[in-house]
Amino acid sequence: MCGIVAYFGNRPAYPIIVKGLKRLEYRGYDSAGVAIQQDGIVVHKKQGKVADLEKHIGKAADSLKGTIGIGHTRWATHGEPSDINAHPHRSSDGKLSIIHNGIIENYGSLKKELTSKGYTFKSDTDTEVLITFIQDILSNTDGTIENAVRIALTQVIGAYAIAVMSEDEPRKLVAARKGSPLVIGIGKGEYFLASDATPIIEYTNEVVYLNDEEIAIITDDEFLIKDTKDAQLNPYIQIVDMELETIEKGGYAHFMLKEIFEQPQSITDGMRGRLNAEEGILTLGGIREYADQLINAERIIIVGCGTSWHAGLVAEYIFEEFCRIPVEVEYASEFRYRNPVIKKGDVVLAISQSGETADTLAAIELAKKKGAIIFGIVNTVGSSIARTSHEGAYLHAGPEIGVASTKAFTAQLTVLSMIALRVAKNKGTITDRKYREFLHELKSIPNKVKRVLESSQKIELISDLFKDAKNFLYLGRGYNFPVALEGALKLKEISYIHAEGYPAAEMKHGPIALIDEEMPVVFIATRDSSYDKVVSNIQEVKARKGVVIAVVTEGDVLIPKMADFVIEVPATHEAFMPLVSVVPLQLLSYYIAVLRGCNVDQPRNLAKSVTVE
Ligand code: G6P
Repeated sequence: MCGIVAYFGNRPAYPIIVKGLKRLEYRGYDSAGVAIQQDGIVVHKKQGKVADLEKHIGKAADSLKGTIGIGHTRWATHGEPSDINAHPHRSSDGKLSIIHNGIIENYGSLKKELTSKGYTFKSDTDTEVLITFIQDILSNTDGTIENAVRIALTQVIGAYAIAVMSEDEPRKLVAARKGSPLVIGIGKGEYFLASDATPIIEYTNEVVYLNDEEIAIITDDEFLIKDTKDAQLNPYIQIVDMELETIEKGGYAHFMLKEIFEQPQSITDGMRGRLNAEEGILTLGGIREYADQLINAERIIIVGCGTSWHAGLVAEYIFEEFCRIPVEVEYASEFRYRNPVIKKGDVVLAISQSGETADTLAAIELAKKKGAIIFGIVNTVGSSIARTSHEGAYLHAGPEIGVASTKAFTAQLTVLSMIALRVAKNKGTITDRKYREFLHELKSIPNKVKRVLESSQKIELISDLFKDAKNFLYLGRGYNFPVALEGALKLKEISYIHAEGYPAAEMKHGPIALIDEEMPVVFIATRDSSYDKVVSNIQEVKARKGVVIAVVTEGDVLIPKMADFVIEVPATHEAFMPLVSVVPLQLLSYYIAVLRGCNVDQPRNLAKSVTVE
């Protein structure tokens, strides 16, 4: 969490940094700040969003002409959101300035040590401790900032992506990373640093992804990358393939709505060049060397967080049904701390939109250490999880900017389904006829999602009736159970209405006590192997005067007689139904949140990329 941006070059840095911060606001928006190098370092910072910072700076922006600068948009960890805790932070002599994404875990002991030396602190942040520590090293070593940063980082425990400037070395920018992402865009005599490539691509498509424990030093004469032992490394320059329009709203009111409507395209993009239904071919270029381990795996462990974990739950059903391989789905945060049993050669699928989620990364490291083979199912190209996995498959869903994940979920299901089908085909656990049938069915999903999107007006009308509800229950069975969880998560994330997802059959073991005429219950009740059971569950809710909104298969005549509201979706094989049935739930939560006046793209307290534990 937290987004960092820096610029080094010959144009005024301020407008470039502010624009970049707006692109990274999905990473946190509790406060924002900039520091510009010009006759000393000028710092402006403010609690709130980047727009609040701009308002706060006002006319003073005209005098910000410096051509080197750093900026930060914060998701608070140490210290509440406030002007003082906002980044950039200065060293106590005011000469150094830093932006930081991550957590310095041993900041308490460092602070104690520095306090005993007479340093004082203005904020409650770990970052101010880090810059003061760097200042202290500088005063003792009489060296350059990069040297002080390097020494400091060998003593720091935790995660960081940082950029540092000094008034004593005004034409220099030093950056480093461990655990938190940092990308450096290479222009002509100018450099753009950011937490991801989105603030960079309008200036250059040549980038260097900094690796852990690497330090970048930028001056007018050189661009160096060194390790923590001060040895020079060769930067590996890559070309990012991202269009500017993919990170803009393109006429939609919110990124979330745009991303919901992009799904027919993003699902197609995930299958492009991979799925050839006519020929019966599935090509997954990223899974080659370790393909046999996957096919012959005795069990598969899936790790992820949030929506990605929900995609994992669907994948569990798919892999078990198609491939007959036992699957365990774990919250990455639990997995990493509970001494899991992992054998050499075990297969781990790590699912992540951002590719930067700290818990998922740590779960991967743990599994890797114990000898597991890691397959990353990741959206963000070049991200930490993509790079640390042995092999994997990108989602190719394009940048997802709305904090509530939508198109990444359906893209994850698409990719996971393709992987399962490929494994099943190789293992012979499905017949050739079934395999081909499934390929055709998967290929038809984008059109089916398009048809669901045509119901958006109806869903908006339903949303209006429920926008003031205090609670919601989401119920589904089988493949639609994870969809119930995802629907409930979407609603609570962006509308702040309490919502719970449950397997429909579990309702009678507790949640049924909550049902009265005030309780909207969303059933995902499409025609599948548990349809009849779900119909009984709907009757149980109606018998207790609950209000039922049901997502049903087109042409269903039974449930519309019982439910208060129905939303139809096209029929598909039940294993692929989550790709379709989740879409009305995304729209329902979107419209409810908008009607309640909530900030859909930047819900309170959340951040999209959770790079802290
Ligand atoms: C955060 C986001 C969720 C996301 C989860 C996992 O909580 O708000 O939308 O599902 O992190 O993120 P990942 O990038 O690993 O999929």
